[in-house]
Amino acid sequence: MGKTRKTKKKHEKFTKKATNLRRSRWIVFSLGALLVVGLSLYLQNREDLGEQLPPPPTDALYKQADQAVELRVADLLARMTLEEKIGQMSLVDKNSLIRTEDVSRYNLGAVLSGAGAKPDSNTPEGWLDLTQKITAEAAKSRLGIPILFGTDANHGHGNVPSATIFPHAIGLGATNDPELVKKIAVATSDELRATGINWNYSPSLDGPKDIRWGRVYEAFSDDPALIAALGSAYITGAQLPQEGTSVLTSAKHYIGTGSMGWDTSNHKTYKIDQGVIIADEKILREQYLPPFQAAVTANVSSIMVALTDWGDERIIDSNYLITDVLKNDMKFNGFVVSDWYGVYEYADSSDYDANVSAINAGLDMAMLPFKYKSFLKDVKRAVEKQDISIERIDDAVSRILTKKFESGLFDTSIVPVNDQLAKVGSKEHRLLARIAAAQSMTLLKNDKKLLPLNKDAKRILVAGSGADNVGRQVGAWTVEWQGIDGNDLPGATSILQGIKETVSSGTQLEYAQNGVFSERASIGIAIISEKPYAEGFGDNEEPKISDEDLQAIENLKKSADQVVVVLISGRPLLISDEINGWDAFVAAWLPGSEGAGVADVLFGDQQFTGRLPLPWPASLSQLPITANGDTQDSSIPLFERGFGL
Ligand code: BGC
Repeated sequence: MGKTRKTKKKHEKFTKKATNLRRSRWIVFSLGALLVVGLSLYLQNREDLGEQLPPPPTDALYKQADQAVELRVADLLARMTLEEKIGQMSLVDKNSLIRTEDVSRYNLGAVLSGAGAKPDSNTPEGWLDLTQKITAEAAKSRLGIPILFGTDANHGHGNVPSATIFPHAIGLGATNDPELVKKIAVATSDELRATGINWNYSPSLDGPKDIRWGRVYEAFSDDPALIAALGSAYITGAQLPQEGTSVLTSAKHYIGTGSMGWDTSNHKTYKIDQGVIIADEKILREQYLPPFQAAVTANVSSIMVALTDWGDERIIDSNYLITDVLKNDMKFNGFVVSDWYGVYEYADSSDYDANVSAINAGLDMAMLPFKYKSFLKDVKRAVEKQDISIERIDDAVSRILTKKFESGLFDTSIVPVNDQLAKVGSKEHRLLARIAAAQSMTLLKNDKKLLPLNKDAKRILVAGSGADNVGRQVGAWTVEWQGIDGNDLPGATSILQGIKETVSSGTQLEYAQNGVFSERASIGIAIISEKPYAEGFGDNEEPKISDEDLQAIENLKKSADQVVVVLISGRPLLISDEINGWDAFVAAWLPGSEGAGVADVLFGDQQFTGRLPLPWPASLSQLPITANGDTQDSSIPLFERGFGL
């Protein structure tokens, strides 16, 4: 017993000692861990932020609106640390921003909403809230350099469901009307500005040669002169200052885009998009440079470099094309931006080498869009190692700052005011979109003068996948990158709805998507469509009418005396085998949110004025068709560019 008690006491003493020891070890360990975390945070901060300078005086020259832009740029540049300069060269996707504070912490030059990257509330208010947060964050940085917020508003402020959606560029090409294009660009900038967006990745100056490519509709035409005329009209309109600020534009995709060969894509699943440019230097100079030259003359703010190769070199690595040709020969004074992940995409080197190569080739701002921390680190190291000269960095930053100063961003109130939101999807803009849709309708066949249709017809039958589907008529780059299906755009009008509003009250209008009707009518309208697609998702070996729509036309023909086919598509489709069976045929392209514009022309409230902005191939063996209209098999296209009844 005695022994036991003694042992227990001893044991208790030992346990107490051990507990104390454990406790103090734990305290030491926690303190140590805290120290390590603190130290590494400190080191990380030191590494990320570099030299810390005091804020500039409130009357610093660069802050004075009455000083010349050149002087303001020089003054600001002289105050910037290397890290701040590299920050300005960074363009980060909003969804990849780790913390909003990173905007000021790294002095980022720009943020973008890549297609489909939207605020939680996808309303004009939600967008304004998002851009205000980013803008206010940028203002907190030491130098308070305003940030650019960019998006693809290539047919209106397409990310926002309630915005006005204009015809895609190919339809504008069919209008051949620079004044109209300019007005559309002004309206688009108004809607963007209202939600705090100050940079539009438009216009596309691509020249498509092959309808199998998924981006034909983003281009105005394959004719360099028409692309140049409409592209520069767009830039002039989009950049027009309103209330002290102007929206920046980005002409894209420099250069040769549209001449890639089938099955040359670097992308795993694409066929032609992001492929190899077939055009040689003569063709590049004669057909692809003139629209960019026109853009430079129109004072375009930025030019986006393509994700394609020319020969065995990525264009983003081509000092010849970017610096010699674009900056030196063409005297482009804006800044060069890469396309999505364009510095690293398809690079067969390390990220460090890819950064060095692109910046030395002449890249000024990198659409990273994720890797901003490593970009800052790599480029800093490259300057320290003299792999990139500080002169090159200064040139890049000066170009970016120049455009920021010129656009008035430094001189307007930091946070945009909430009173312009009504401009998004306004009546006035929708009317403009309706006029544009009407003007883009291209009449390619009209037997027995079937069109314009009679508004007072007793009975009209409407069929086809595009008749009552706004998602199809607006195409991709609307709400989602790949577009949407159905009628979910508030304020938009489907073509069917437009027809309903146009015909006389006494007309019986019947709609069945599959074209099956129980009662006959004198007129049938088949509104057929392509499903929306963007970029390489639209690469298509054989662009043709869907079986479903072919069937709908056949069904409709059984119930209607005469049938007009209206095609909603981003490109000409192969229709040689079918067109003979139609009485009339209209290419409606991707007319946008105002389907009433289509009805206006079908029923004669507006005249048909559209002309084909590119040749309409008769067969696959004609592809690609050159800008001179020459086909591969020397046969003639179904319709030549410029045709339209
Ligand atoms: C497209 C560009 C676009 C960019 C940003 C890329 O995938 O090629 O045209 O501007 O994304 O959304």
